[in-house]
Amino acid sequence: MKNDIEKIIFSRSEIAAKIKEMVRNIMEDFKREKTLVMVALLKGSVIFLADLIRQIDMSVEFDFIGTSSYGGSAISKAYVEIYKDLMFEVKGKSVILVDDILDTGKTAKVVMKHLLDKGAKQVKLCVLLDKPSRREVDIKADYAGFEVDDVFVVGYGLDFKDRYRNLPYIAVLKKKYYN
Ligand code: IMP
Ligand code: MG
Repeated sequence: MKNDIEKIIFSRSEIAAKIKEMVRNIMEDFKREKTLVMVALLKGSVIFLADLIRQIDMSVEFDFIGTSSYGGSAISKAYVEIYKDLMFEVKGKSVILVDDILDTGKTAKVVMKHLLDKGAKQVKLCVLLDKPSRREVDIKADYAGFEVDDVFVVGYGLDFKDRYRNLPYIAVLKKKYYN
């Protein structure tokens, strides 16, 4: 697996430091809430969520939404469908939507609207990575870890064909593996 990697762009310790900083901002903004309600997108955000919540020194509830995309490749989609919905109520609650990377923005846009339609009071978006150059819809993350150029990255939850999610860092794959 390591032989498929071109270079590491964010190390394990850089990610850990960034998460601490993000949690400080989140806790400051949500200090008046009794519980922090987090909704994470399967499967890419699982590792990020696990590290985030263990730094949060207040009561946390989390659940998952699963989306699939149609009419395009894995990273460029015509529309987004929810295949797994929440098990808990978000009506009247402030929610933080957690994803691995904000790319075109279509997934986050659809899911944020979905949460607001279910009656969430407000929805904030928290992503580890942001690729602003790829944006196709008008959306900004409220909390974004690192900005990345238009390169395909894997690791720390991010996959290529469902592989590489378990790498403890974020890396660029060698071109021959995804071309
Ligand atoms: P969006 O709807 O285009 O913003 O899609 C975001 C989703 O695309 C992420 O949750 C990832 O699953 C996937 N994605 C986008 N860019 C990358 C990448 O560089 N590596 C791995 N997955 C990516
Ligand atoms: Mg993916």
